[in-house]
Amino acid sequence: MPDNPLKKPDISVTIAGIPFKNPVIAASGTFGYGREYAGLLDVSALGGICTKGLTLEPRAGNNGVRLHETPSGLMNSIGLENPGIPAFIEKELPHLQELQQQGVVIIANLSGSSVKEYAEGARLLDMCGVDMVELNISCPNVPSGGIAFGRDPEAALSVARPVRKALHKPLIVKLSPNASDIAAVASACVAGGADALSLVNTFKAMAINIEKRTPVFDHGSAGLSGPAIHPLALRMVWELVRALAAQSTAVPVIGLGGISRAEDAIEFLAAGAKAVQVGTATFTNPTAMLEIIDGIAAYMKKKEIFRIEDLSIQ
Ligand code: FUM
Repeated sequence: MPDNPLKKPDISVTIAGIPFKNPVIAASGTFGYGREYAGLLDVSALGGICTKGLTLEPRAGNNGVRLHETPSGLMNSIGLENPGIPAFIEKELPHLQELQQQGVVIIANLSGSSVKEYAEGARLLDMCGVDMVELNISCPNVPSGGIAFGRDPEAALSVARPVRKALHKPLIVKLSPNASDIAAVASACVAGGADALSLVNTFKAMAINIEKRTPVFDHGSAGLSGPAIHPLALRMVWELVRALAAQSTAVPVIGLGGISRAEDAIEFLAAGAKAVQVGTATFTNPTAMLEIIDGIAAYMKKKEIFRIEDLSIQ
């Protein structure tokens, strides 16, 4: 008798119509454009890769300290350093498309300073070979744009709508944990045309150099990520999935925030996330994502759960 095919867990997922071979995506800003890690892990085994936040024009990023470790966490203030969307398309996308041919979903993280810049960026990304766009309205480290659009529903709608108009590909909106009402911002993004939501980006945080008696970061604050934020992010995903269900809004949520082990990812999937993004963990353990993919499959086998969506306890 042939084996029952259901005995092997199926770890593939579909988000906004795009099939992923597994639910683990490299988070924006932590994985470059894929090729930087080529010698360290089999990048083609990932479910997806999210690029560093891209803006229309190249950006040099912030001055001063950009990274600062905390107990179980990492603070960053990169300031969206990136080559600009045209240079990304010319120089980085060809390599990402090789990975795409091996089944890795390519997601461009889009940022900007103004609605006009976001919309023009979306128009350019629509014409190139990326699979999806993740709209970044949650970067806490830039003087304009980023989190300025992600804190309140009206501002979020004001950017989501024109981006949606310019973009025919699936649109993910990356939400900020620093919004006072995340569910309201999420609803506005969905009203503006988001096909999926990802959360959380980093928490606005601060460190002070007590020897120099100055803030560590030139802008004073920076974004905190890593295991320290995992329980906070998990709670936010849980609550957002509930809030969306209560409104009968069937928009998939991608969970992120401090995932460094399969157990952390499984918690997000149990909270109702359809997929996860892994970021900070890759810096200390470049193969963390592969271990997480294997760990999810092993857990499902042990628990006799055969589809990712059945991991949800919501
Ligand atoms: O500083 C940065 O580039 C951070 C970006 C983000 O959090 O999206």
